[in-house]
Amino acid sequence: LKQIERFPDDFLFGASTSSFQVEGAAELDGRGKAIHDLAEKKIGITDFSTASDHYHRMEEDVELFHELGLNMYRFSMSWTRIMPDGKNINEEGLAFYNRLVDKLVSYGIEPLVTIYHFEYPYQLIEEFGGWLSPKGIDAYEAFAKVLFTHFGDRVKYWLTINEQDHVVKISERLGLPKESTGLAFERKLQQANYHMCVATAKVIQLAHQMMPDSKIGPAVNPMPAIPSSGNPKDLIAAMEFNELSHHYILDLHCRGKFSPIHWKYMQDRDICPKVKTEDLQLMAANPPDFIGINYYLNQTVAHSEQETIALRGQGVFCEEEAGIYQLAENELIPQTDWGWNICPEGLSISLMDVCNRYQLPMLITENGLGAYDEVVDGKIHDTYRIEYLQNHLAQIKHCLSMGFPILGYCAWSAIDLVSGREGMDKRYGFIYVNRTNEELRDLNRLKKDSFYWYQNVIQERGQSI
Ligand code: BG6
Repeated sequence: LKQIERFPDDFLFGASTSSFQVEGAAELDGRGKAIHDLAEKKIGITDFSTASDHYHRMEEDVELFHELGLNMYRFSMSWTRIMPDGKNINEEGLAFYNRLVDKLVSYGIEPLVTIYHFEYPYQLIEEFGGWLSPKGIDAYEAFAKVLFTHFGDRVKYWLTINEQDHVVKISERLGLPKESTGLAFERKLQQANYHMCVATAKVIQLAHQMMPDSKIGPAVNPMPAIPSSGNPKDLIAAMEFNELSHHYILDLHCRGKFSPIHWKYMQDRDICPKVKTEDLQLMAANPPDFIGINYYLNQTVAHSEQETIALRGQGVFCEEEAGIYQLAENELIPQTDWGWNICPEGLSISLMDVCNRYQLPMLITENGLGAYDEVVDGKIHDTYRIEYLQNHLAQIKHCLSMGFPILGYCAWSAIDLVSGREGMDKRYGFIYVNRTNEELRDLNRLKKDSFYWYQNVIQERGQSI
């Protein structure tokens, strides 16, 4: 196939963040508590509530994004900044995002807004259990309506739920104790997953009613499996892994159908959610406009002879113990300092798999390298990050050359932010934020070498990739 020389003119080069990881001001201007606020103590960061202080430095940050040359900026709107108790509007929250959206638009940067990035209002968790209850669907729809009403005139691209496939694997993200285990717990996760699928369909329908030109879709994190050997049994294990890692959600989003393996898995264990025919019809009638792909790593998977099921505490489809497949070592694939496989080809595997199965355009909504960065004489020579991003962009260019519809690429992250589990030790940004887990310092911004590299990639539309 003839390889393209440059990325298409309308391809969106972007970068991403999420509100609780970047904004700080966690208790300011009326913001209410959200579920992840309670995770603060666990990741060893002394001041989570300041994060990267983007709330106070938004103007400066967007100016840097403009200098970087971003065509798109993905961020989430904090539910509890806009509705502190999950129900009533806080004008100061709306005002912050109005300023942010206006500033982006004034620089010609397309906003991509994530409606839900792990931030369920704590009050609603206490009142009815958040996503575990059907009431969670209505609350989320009401929040989305507020966003569409106030920002729909300037925001065209929307993401419904970030990484539903991982929300249901981490019990604390649903407000359940970490040590939860057993089939009753597993049934709750499957029910929460189903509620999120119904909520997604409702909000896609609402977006299209309120903003006919909008483009809206979910963001999943597929971690595609490759077989550990040429043994066909390992290929089947890898296919089963993919069914239970992301197809089971996307089949509902895009077709209103349960993947057969998923349904059988739940039936065998008597953990099926309560399903209504009209919900499935709603999903089938309201598929997404595109699918967001978060890609960091892949998995190598082998056949498992194990027949018994031993469910672990950490969520659905416990890979090593489900008795269908097991995770395997792969000496061909290097790893990050945190043991994440580095496999750029895995991105192509995901894009080809998802696009062929659902026949929808795709948008890469996260991809990046978490690393320790060192400041030497005021500079950060993050060649490791440049290499990682370059290799992943090369895969996207190849997929575009094969004819796959890819709308854009948002690297994770635009600026250093608090990593989900490692705080500020594990950095992802093009822009360095001067703080550590232990010390707040002056929070000044420094452009890393990757900043200048990405700036050039955008300017030349990826010609040298
Ligand atoms: C994605 C999340 O799963 O991975 C981000 O959407 C997260 O919020 C990113 O930061 C990287 O994970 P981590 O644990 O290294 O921060």
